[in-house]
Amino acid sequence: GKIYDYLLVSTPKPGVGLVQLNRPKALNALSTPLILELNTALRAFQADQSIGAIVLTGSNKAFAAGADIKEMKDLTFSDAYGKDFIETWSDLVTFLKKPLITAVNGYALGGGCELAMMGDIMYCGPNAVFGQPEIRLGVIPGAGGSQRLTKAIGKSRAMEAILTGDNISAKQADEWGLVAKVFETPEECTDGAIATAAKIAGFSHIAVKAAKEVVNKSQDLGIREGVEFERRVFHGLFGSKDQKIGMGAFAAKQKPEWSNE
Ligand code: CAA
Repeated sequence: GKIYDYLLVSTPKPGVGLVQLNRPKALNALSTPLILELNTALRAFQADQSIGAIVLTGSNKAFAAGADIKEMKDLTFSDAYGKDFIETWSDLVTFLKKPLITAVNGYALGGGCELAMMGDIMYCGPNAVFGQPEIRLGVIPGAGGSQRLTKAIGKSRAMEAILTGDNISAKQADEWGLVAKVFETPEECTDGAIATAAKIAGFSHIAVKAAKEVVNKSQDLGIREGVEFERRVFHGLFGSKDQKIGMGAFAAKQKPEWSNE
């Protein structure tokens, strides 16, 4: 397979794509070359028919300590605006139709927290540290932090985190619903994410894609339009083979063999 400079990419279980950020000397600081590689790796898993779900993780010390401050420090406004600095980051999630689970151990700060929040499901280990410390650098979150953190934990808590730059512990992330689950060790966190991804990958890929799409719509639509959208997509699944396979297997007391069609 392709060798990346800043990523380790593997298939730890059938149907599961694993991307591990691997820039240990910089605590996985998210430089432009790293983000471009991450785009390439996620696109490859998106295109691979055998992959049903993806896990993104870092090391035990750092998921990612943020955007690369050394790369950014001399940027001018016209560099940033003219070249649309960080726009490549939004590509990370918009094309990804397969579920992404982010498994966070250690630091997930600034862009690292923002990247973690791009996951459809977030898991973390006991030593996870979340935060948006940009205010300490004289800037603000730039890759969705002010929007996603506020949606996830509410305005008052997000304001406090973003205005003070104070960290959010794993325990707080759990209590506030930022993560779906906290594991007892970093290894259990990564393994747990892979196990969940394998479970998801074992369902009809068509139904999984539709489920992700309708849940995400709830972030943009009001309840009436959202429920209507959900019902249309639900109706659409009666045109899939897997609806016949799934319901047929239930009625026949058999295990479904998905066609992914
Ligand atoms: N960018 C570039 N390099 C970074 C980095 C970052 N975000 N975070 C850490 N590093 C580098 C350090 O410079 C250091 O490199 P050297 O060995 O060459 O000096 C190496 O990684 C190890 O870091 P530390 O020695 O600082 O490790 P530590 O254990 O003492 O501290 C830390 C860990 C608390 C995470 C600390 O590294 C830190 O505060 N990092 C910066 C966190 C931050 O401010 N992130 C937000 C970035 S801005 C952003 O992300 C904008 C956006 O919204 C997109």
